[in-house]
Amino acid sequence: MQIIAQTDHHVAAIERLLDLTFGPDRHEKTVYRLREGIAPVPPLSFVIENGSGLAATLRFWPVMLPDGRVALLLGPIAVRPDLAGKGYGRALMRHGIEAARAQGWPAILLVGDEPYYGRLGFTRAAAARLELPGPVDAARFLALELVPGALDGVAGTVGRVEGAAVLQAGG
Ligand SMILES: CC(C)(COP(=O)(O)OP(=O)(O)OC[C@H]1O[C@@H](n2cnc3c(N)ncnc32)[C@H](O)[C@@H]1OP(=O)(O)O)[C@@H](O)C(=O)NCCC(=O)NCCS
Repeated sequence: MQIIAQTDHHVAAIERLLDLTFGPDRHEKTVYRLREGIAPVPPLSFVIENGSGLAATLRFWPVMLPDGRVALLLGPIAVRPDLAGKGYGRALMRHGIEAARAQGWPAILLVGDEPYYGRLGFTRAAAARLELPGPVDAARFLALELVPGALDGVAGTVGRVEGAAVLQAGG
């Protein structure tokens, strides 16, 4: 398994994989309100390819914390259904988390299953004082501090990063 940087030629296959795994109505979810019209963070977009094409995708979007700092919204992550359970998802997650940490981002937020993401360090507690701008199952709203204490005392609604593309931590 080799994790590589996403390039433009992966984009169409990524859209097909996301339609397959999340359904075409995925754009109605609250997290898409934070992503629409905003580019993902380019150095944090990764794929796994195998002999028959795209096997998995992981991207991160910049989001505004209530205190004005920019953090990361993880996802979507998707693994081709016929390749599920082979460790692709976990390997991509670890790779993405370590890349984000190395780039100096303060924290990663996501909406997902705690039993899966909890094993990678995400907790409900770290996101407990934050809200997303729309309906979301609070039990699935999780966070991981990349810098210890990065979310201490940070309370309120997470917002969109408007304006110029944010290409790096703190940008
Ligand atoms: C969720 C997903 C990314 C996991 O990737 P994967 O490559 O299949 O997972 P891995 O091989 O790394 O890990 C498999 C382990 O995670 C567990 N697991 C997988 N999905 C899980 C979930 N939703 N909740 C809890 N555990 C889960 C498996 O039972 C397995 O456990 P084990 O190691 O004890 O046997 C992938 O299945 C997927 O793309 N699903 C559809 C899209 C999706 O739901 N994305 C996440 C949205 S929050």
